[in-house]
Amino acid sequence: MTRRDFINSTSASYASLLAWGMLQPAPASALDLPANGKKSDGKGRKVIVLGAGLAGMTTAYELGKLGYDCTVLEARSRSGGRVWTVRGGTKETELAGGTPQTCSFENGLYFNGGAARIPHHHQITLQYCRELGVPLEIFNGANESAYLYNDGGTGDLANRRMRISDYHFDMRGYTAELLAKALDQSSLDQQLTKEDVEKLIDFLKNEGDLNTAHLYKGTNRRGYKAKSDPGAGHTPGTLTDPYGLTDLLRSGFMQPVFYNVGDYAYEQQATLLQPVGGMDAIPRALEKKLIGKIQFNAPVSELRKTENGVRVVYQKDGKPVEITGEFCVCTLPLPMLKNLESDLSGTVKRAADFVPYMKTGKIGLQFKRRFWEEDDGIYGGISRTNMDINQIWYPSFGLQGKKGVLIGYYNFYSRAEAIGALPVAEREKIALAQGGKIHPQYSSEFENSFSLAWHRLPYSGGGWATYDDATRKKYYPTLLEPDGNIYFAGEHTTYLTAWMAGAFTSARRTVEALHARVGEYTKK
Ligand code: ALA
Repeated sequence: MTRRDFINSTSASYASLLAWGMLQPAPASALDLPANGKKSDGKGRKVIVLGAGLAGMTTAYELGKLGYDCTVLEARSRSGGRVWTVRGGTKETELAGGTPQTCSFENGLYFNGGAARIPHHHQITLQYCRELGVPLEIFNGANESAYLYNDGGTGDLANRRMRISDYHFDMRGYTAELLAKALDQSSLDQQLTKEDVEKLIDFLKNEGDLNTAHLYKGTNRRGYKAKSDPGAGHTPGTLTDPYGLTDLLRSGFMQPVFYNVGDYAYEQQATLLQPVGGMDAIPRALEKKLIGKIQFNAPVSELRKTENGVRVVYQKDGKPVEITGEFCVCTLPLPMLKNLESDLSGTVKRAADFVPYMKTGKIGLQFKRRFWEEDDGIYGGISRTNMDINQIWYPSFGLQGKKGVLIGYYNFYSRAEAIGALPVAEREKIALAQGGKIHPQYSSEFENSFSLAWHRLPYSGGGWATYDDATRKKYYPTLLEPDGNIYFAGEHTTYLTAWMAGAFTSARRTVEALHARVGEYTKK
């Protein structure tokens, strides 16, 4: 038996193969920088990094490996920026007269207020989790047991919840039946041989679970009627009946808000991951690599170019403090850059003014019982509705625990703006009223909430940069170039906007560019 045969014939885990010496461990830093320049070139050069989010801290971490002397200025009292886990004790007050909130979730319960899922193909994020020792677990994104709810529609299937699986199996069945019918009647204008047609029909029979006459008459894939599961003795179980095709077509579920994004969107396809214990495990791990280098509660008020580098003014205990450096890496979100006193170029200032940011909000709702698990069999995943709450996210951790926190809304654009504009008590009321239509248990099980609107949060001013073709062409390129000795990093300087992978990759790009420039100086 060869080594390969042995590995193939066992279901040995990665960990045991590693322990038996049959696999190489992942290198601690598989993404070593720099591609250009000598390691020693950075020694002692002063870099001021604005923002201790993922982009800023990764920049300082990587520059630190090359000997640079970094100071990170962070306006908040915490690191992470838009990577923020809300748990008992978390405090926040939004802008424009926002109600001060203190979270009162029970110990161990939390929700990720910002970044909340990691696609399996975001290698850079996964590699940093490896390098920083952040343990991951599965984030269940696409759960077909969750619900769809079309509010205000007129069809028989509107104004009631439907399992996503029922909708998908029925629609798959009917569309497979229609296509099989067309193939049976040779009415499809296709260059297919008889054998090809037979194979395609076999596929459709499986895909739609069609009967021998190629008709969709329901499927055991939908499962059993309530309280009619198969059991002991004479209880074989009673299968559910399919909905009618016309009822489904009139259900309203063809609206984009109900799209099966778990299959359609590349970034939301299984497998998704999350750090154990909250997304802020990532910024916390980075912070540990930067002990003594981050100044917290230090909002930047001025950014200037000097003859030899940069001058930055920040506020400390209400007083301005000035520091200078050879370079600056600015990772402030553009809505923050907009308000900064600076002598940045006109093109950078226009980018800050005109690149729009997503309005988006979430609410965490604590319930005294995990009724979505106990009563509905929902373990993680997302319900979707056309109501303002838009989505309900069920936690993928703490399964079968006593209490639980779910995300009662995750919304965007005008829905987020409308709900975000309300006092927190009103937001809670709406989340409970709308979510209660899907889960009647809400009213008896609810305990407390914590809500946020990213476009109203100090030091963020929005969820993420949203480019269209025009803004990408007009404003994006200027953010990729240094303005004098000031570099820009952050998800807004990437094609991975709205993802932690964007923050990470932007930091690396900037470190490479800065270090290559320094390498050129030292050659001279
Ligand atoms: N990346 C963000 C999300 O997963 C937008 O919802």
